[in-house]
Amino acid sequence: MKGTFPIHKFRELETPFYYYDTNLLRHTLDTIRKEAGKYNKFCVHYAVKANANPKVLSIIRESGLGADCVSGGEIKAAIKAGFPANKIVYAGVGKTDAEINLGLDYDIFCFNVESVPELEVINELATAKGKIARVAFRINPDVGAHTHANITTGLAENKFGISMKDMDHVIDRALEMNNINFVGLHFHIGSQILDMGDFTALCNRINELQEKLYARQIIVEHINVGGGLGIDYAHPNRQPVPDFASYFETYHKHLKLRPQQTLHFELGRSVVGQCGSLITKVIYVKQGTNKQFAIVDGGMTDLIRPALYQAYHKIENITSDEATETYDVVGPICESSDVFGKAIDLNKVKRGDLIALRSAGAYGEIMASGYNCRQLPQGYTSDELV
Ligand code: LLP
Repeated sequence: MKGTFPIHKFRELETPFYYYDTNLLRHTLDTIRKEAGKYNKFCVHYAVKANANPKVLSIIRESGLGADCVSGGEIKAAIKAGFPANKIVYAGVGKTDAEINLGLDYDIFCFNVESVPELEVINELATAKGKIARVAFRINPDVGAHTHANITTGLAENKFGISMKDMDHVIDRALEMNNINFVGLHFHIGSQILDMGDFTALCNRINELQEKLYARQIIVEHINVGGGLGIDYAHPNRQPVPDFASYFETYHKHLKLRPQQTLHFELGRSVVGQCGSLITKVIYVKQGTNKQFAIVDGGMTDLIRPALYQAYHKIENITSDEATETYDVVGPICESSDVFGKAIDLNKVKRGDLIALRSAGAYGEIMASGYNCRQLPQGYTSDELV
């Protein structure tokens, strides 16, 4: 089924551009609020890395989520969009001094710390400012996720986090430091995860680690389980809202929290993925030796996921009802990986038709680049295009 798009408005805009359906975004946010709200002390942050379009951010902020940031730039974007600093968490393996100072100046909720050298620098910078930094340790749980190899993060071989065997030592170091307040444990096993069993495996691992800490009379204030809930890219009738009910229920059922502990989530893709489409225009239809190409004005610089991860995005000709034909849909970039889809059935395509790449709200606009001296795509919301 094709989406309902304001085609007449699209015709006035320079392509390619991102289009965000704000009704779907708000509905998704309402669903998150409802499903997470069933459980006491579930606290959801939005992973800004998925999409930092200011209009999208401000709708998410209105819904009351916190922000999960991975750079000083993201902290600034979150603050600008109105996220309260005490709902900002900051992760990342390579935080610079300037970025740490920014987090300290804003008094953000928590630094998710990924190594001892980083902990030492945070302590030093906090001391210089006369502040106490709240920190959680990102522990690498060595739990695999059934997803693309480039987006698993919780395996021992990945660069992220502190290994489980070092956890006690790192906590000891933190407890010795005057300007560090150790408040939590942080985990993240990967992205685009649809098998709830992966999250159950994470819960089991966290339960084991918590047991070890209880034995030392340590009960942290919060556990942060990262993000990772997947979305339905491929199904012919894509489910517009991810399965938040099963996701939160899995954690409720399998994670053993102490009454005083809160549980934090950092959801990115599942919040914004389905509401966004890349809209691009057909420049030429070209007959190749044994196939036809629909050559569009958007390319891997605008949406890199197909080229980088062989990711599938549903492709639709939103301006034609003619009988379908089969096309390779390709962009104008000088790279042979600049292909959005091969052997795709589309309503017959002609020059000037508009093509939508669906489920592109997450890791789409934000990953755009200027390669080939191209302009970055604009992002518009349905609120603006009425
Ligand atoms: N928390 C941490 C520590 C993360 O590293 C990530 C994503 C998230 C939360 C949010 O995960 P989500 O809920 O969106 O799955 N560019 C890739 C995805 C990279 C994800 C990186 N980390 C893609 O286009 O598929």
